[in-house]
Amino acid sequence: MAVSMKGKSLLSINDLTIEEVYQIFDLSKTLKEKHYTGEPHRLLEGKTLGMIFTKPSTRTRVSFQVGIYHLGGTGLYFGPTDLQLGKSENISDTAKVLSRYLDGIMIRTFSHQDVVDLAKYGTIPVINGLTDLLHPCQVLADLFTILEKKRVLKGLKLAYIGDGNNMAHSLLHGCSKVGMDVVIASPSGYTPDKTIVENAQKNAAYMGSKVEIISDPVAAVKDADIVYTDVWASMGQESEAQERRKHFIQYQINPELVKGAKDDYLFMHCLPAHRGDEVVDEIADSGNSVIFDEAENRLHVQKAIMALVM
Ligand code: CP
Ligand code: NVA
Repeated sequence: MAVSMKGKSLLSINDLTIEEVYQIFDLSKTLKEKHYTGEPHRLLEGKTLGMIFTKPSTRTRVSFQVGIYHLGGTGLYFGPTDLQLGKSENISDTAKVLSRYLDGIMIRTFSHQDVVDLAKYGTIPVINGLTDLLHPCQVLADLFTILEKKRVLKGLKLAYIGDGNNMAHSLLHGCSKVGMDVVIASPSGYTPDKTIVENAQKNAAYMGSKVEIISDPVAAVKDADIVYTDVWASMGQESEAQERRKHFIQYQINPELVKGAKDDYLFMHCLPAHRGDEVVDEIADSGNSVIFDEAENRLHVQKAIMALVM
């Protein structure tokens, strides 16, 4: 029987049970079908989602705004300078006040702790739209995309090549939770957070899968079902971009590197891509690439998340 997720915040994939993950995927599939057949699915009639952004966004911004609209609700956008938050008002008071007006909050910001605090002090569900630490909505959409393409998750191998950043962390959470093997190849000094890796290794031991952190991208890609990458310098790290490029140059996804992957491997990237850096056009625009399916599935999966928690 499906467990109710109503009122629950979505801060990290690691907080979800495997049943909840598949409940999100089941509803995503239903809502995607309804979207394509034009069948109304106004599950959040009259509800309001507040969307707080202290960093830029194309996909997250548009997919949440359109998603809440499809569900019969309204989205309110707050940019970096719109709220008193961070200037003259603290997180706790902001959370309590917004909880009196809104039915849910989606937030993209720098500090993960701020998002945890928003959920802690508020009384409405908070959805993490990316922090410096995690990007759970992206990885749920990515796993849903893999499930659509491969019909299965457990037993597949995902190779993530690049920075041990928010994407690497949520992929570690997500892939280990569903029993996929995950190999992260990062240059020294840019490896993922140790606690998150240990946690993923525990999940993997339970699921009978593997989590490895290595430095060799060629070894990582060998026999991979999915080759994933992300930018070398994330939002907020722009000043480090040149220095980082020197460390990451061997980690570019190009035709030579993917030779070791399975023939029917999927190329994935959360986007935005810095073409010519972490990936070349020949790969991003190849038949193996599913980058725009991932972007589309943000819409369907986040609609499911909103409908379940709000
Ligand atoms: N992938 C992703 O979150 O994209 P945006 O930064 O455009 O929202
Ligand atoms: N790691 C990237 C992901 C963007 C969706 C960033 O944080 O900028």
